[in-house]
Parts: sequence; C-alpha cells; structure tokens
Amino acid sequence: MARTILITGGAGFIGSALIRKILAETPHRVVNVDKLTYAASPEALAAVADHPRYAFERADIGDGRRMAAILAAHRPDSIMHLAAESHVDRSIDAPADFIQTNVVGTFTLLEATAGYLRDRPAEARETFRFHHISTDEVFGSLGEEGRFSETSRYQPNSPYAASKAAADHLVRAWGHTFGLPVVLSNCSNNYGPFQFPEKLIPLVTIRALEGRPLPVYGDGGQVRDWLHVDDHADGLLLVLEKGRLGESYNIGGHGERTNLAVVTAICRMLDRARPDPAGPRERLITFVADRPGHDRRYAIDPGRIEAELGWRPRHDFDGGLAETIGWYLENENWWRAILAQRYDGERLGAGPRHRR
Ligand code: NAD
Ligand code: TYD
Repeated sequence: MARTILITGGAGFIGSALIRKILAETPHRVVNVDKLTYAASPEALAAVADHPRYAFERADIGDGRRMAAILAAHRPDSIMHLAAESHVDRSIDAPADFIQTNVVGTFTLLEATAGYLRDRPAEARETFRFHHISTDEVFGSLGEEGRFSETSRYQPNSPYAASKAAADHLVRAWGHTFGLPVVLSNCSNNYGPFQFPEKLIPLVTIRALEGRPLPVYGDGGQVRDWLHVDDHADGLLLVLEKGRLGESYNIGGHGERTNLAVVTAICRMLDRARPDPAGPRERLITFVADRPGHDRRYAIDPGRIEAELGWRPRHDFDGGLAETIGWYLENENWWRAILAQRYDGERLGAGPRHRR
C-alpha cells in the first residue's frame, strides 16, 4: 500500500540514496525535510526533483513550529530521521552544531511528532513508525576481537558519537515514556556515490587523482566496517517496514578493513583505471598526526537484521569500491564544484581549534 514517508536529511549522502530507492522501487510518497547545510547535495536528487511522489521542504529540524506545520500539511505515515551533522572531524573543531542538530533537533522533532500523532486517528497511530537512523560509533571502540551487537554498551568517544548516542537515548525514552512508536538502526561506515569529499574514501580518491598527498591518520591501522550506501538503504526500508517496535537493529556488511588497506586499494584501482605518468599512487600515502581520541576499531554483528528481517548486503567491498571510484571518475563536475565553493580538501579535526 502506498504510504507517505517523511525523510529528514534527504539531501545528504544516505538520505538521497534512500529517496532514489524508495521512488524507484516502492509505491510510497516521499517528503524530504532538509536544511541544506554545507553537506547537502541537491544534485543527488536532480533525477527525482519533479517526481509526482516527491516533495521537498527546506527546513531546520530544530524549528518546532515549522516541523509541526510540515507534519500537519503532509500527514506522513512514517518518519525516517537522518538529518544530522555527520563528520567526526568537524565535531572536534566545532561541536556546537552537533549538539544543536543531533540532540536538540532530534528532541524537537520527537516533540513535534508526538503532538502530530495525538491528533491522528487510532488506526494511523497504530501503524506509524519513527525510525531513527544512527551509527555504530555510539558503542565506542573495539579491541582486536569482538563485534558490536544491539546490546553492546554505549560508550561514545567523539563529540559526534556522543551527540548521536544522546539522540538514540531520547528516541528510546520517547518510545518508552510517551508510547511513540519508534524503531532504531545503528550502521557502520557507508561509502558510495555522492559522499561528501571530506570523508575518507572520496577524499583519498579525489586527492589521488590530483596527485596530492593522501593523509592517513596515525599508523593507518584503525579498522572500519564498510557498507555500500545502497545496502544500507535496503536495510533501512526493511527496518521501517518489518522491524519490531522499540527495537534497534545493527546494520553492517562484514566489510572490515584497515584505513591503510582502503587507501592502498583506492590507489591501485585508480592506477588501473587512469594510470598516473608520475608512477603508482601509493607514493602519495602520507602518515599525518592522528585524530584526537581516534577510535581504533568498529565492527558490526548484523545477526539480528539478517535473521529477523532477511537482510543481506548485495555489494562486496572490493566490487563496491571499484564501482564507487568509477562513479567519482565519471562525476568530476559534482566534486569539483564542491571543492571550488564549499570545501577545498583541507585537514579537519586535527585539534580543538575552538579552544585555542
Ligand atoms: P550527510 O552529512 O551527508 O547529510 C546530512 C543531511 O542532513 C544534509 O543534507 C544536511 O543538509 C541535513 N541537515 C543537517 N542539519 C539539519 C537540520 N538541522 N535540519 C534539517 N536538515 C539538516 O550525512 P549522511 O552521511 O547522509 O548520514 C545520514 C545519517 O546517517 C546521519 O544521521 C548519520 O549520523 C547516520 N549515519 C551515517 C553513516 C555514514 O557512514 N555516513 C553511518 C551510520 C549512520
Ligand atoms: P571518516 O570517513 O571521517 O569516517 P569516521 O570517522 O566516521 O569513521 O574516516 C574513516 C577513517 O579514516 C577514520 O578512522 C579516520 C580515517 N581518515 C584518515 O586516515 N585520513 C583522512 O583524511 C580522513 C578524512 C579519515
């Protein structure tokens, strides 16, 4: 049955992939609520901007009145909440926006949603879902062994992770105390098309193409568990439609790699696709000062979403990475415009600039 899904942060990397998928593969209507911060990419939605089942509202989730008005006007059947400040390095330089959007913004959206649901018929309240999209970074850092499960202890280390953990707790509390029909998911690092060039994979791809040094923080032995954004979007839809009320689901695709292995793989793939006359790009790898408080290892145990909801990732990391690098090669106009106007590839998060 066609339903209306309100998506916050739909102009971002994951939200835009999710919207493209919903419009292409389901009968649902989408209302995208996005403030259009520096991280937003309206180009990622250009193909669906005029779609009859798509509507866009430029708004800040921290504006309670606007949120109430948007909810009343569009009467969504569900909310998928992705809007956030999302970059760990920026949260080290300037944490205030992270507290405002990720914590206060989530609180404001929860309140607006609770108010909206009060006026809805019982039947609509019954099937409504508030799906909060979060990260595995709320669980902190792992040692050599083990993986995060849904019962792992919350131990966020960066301002970003702490702000997302706070949001997770608020969502749970609004479910428990006020009966808001919530469901949560915590995902590992995503990669794929339209990822903003401040994140590791696009940053290294672009710098390698330009023959610039490739900054590897610390010894490069940190491990991230990479998942293709389209596999994440598949998982999100399953959690929304079939996830148990009040539960959380970890999403990750068995894609553990050290940062150095990822950077090396990007260099080799680019060397094959577009050889550099100056020589193999691994020569550009440069070890730089570590990120303060850098988490050593993340890894997800996706047992619950696999067993309960039948989710399986469709991309293996090497294939997905090659596809993603191909996308960045073919979409130079997109990232060149960002480098020229919004972010020039400078090092972020090297230290607490705001405290100097
Ligand atoms: P992104 O930074 O690419 O996009 C965030 C979007 O939210 C942008 O379009 C931005 O304009 C919008 N936004 C920011 N503040 C807003 C506000 N106050 N009001 C309305 N809109 C606002 O982020 P992403 O990588 O697409 O991540 C989306 C969500 O998924 C986030 O909640 C993030 O914590 C979570 N997540 C991301 C990853 C990852 O690897 N990228 C992994 C797990 C979870
Ligand atoms: P990032 O893409 O910022 O994601 P997150 O911090 O949420 O995991 O970084 C991924 C990993 O890559 C992380 O361990 C930090 C590291 N990194 C570098 O080594 N060099 C870089 O230039 C960047 C941006 C990240």
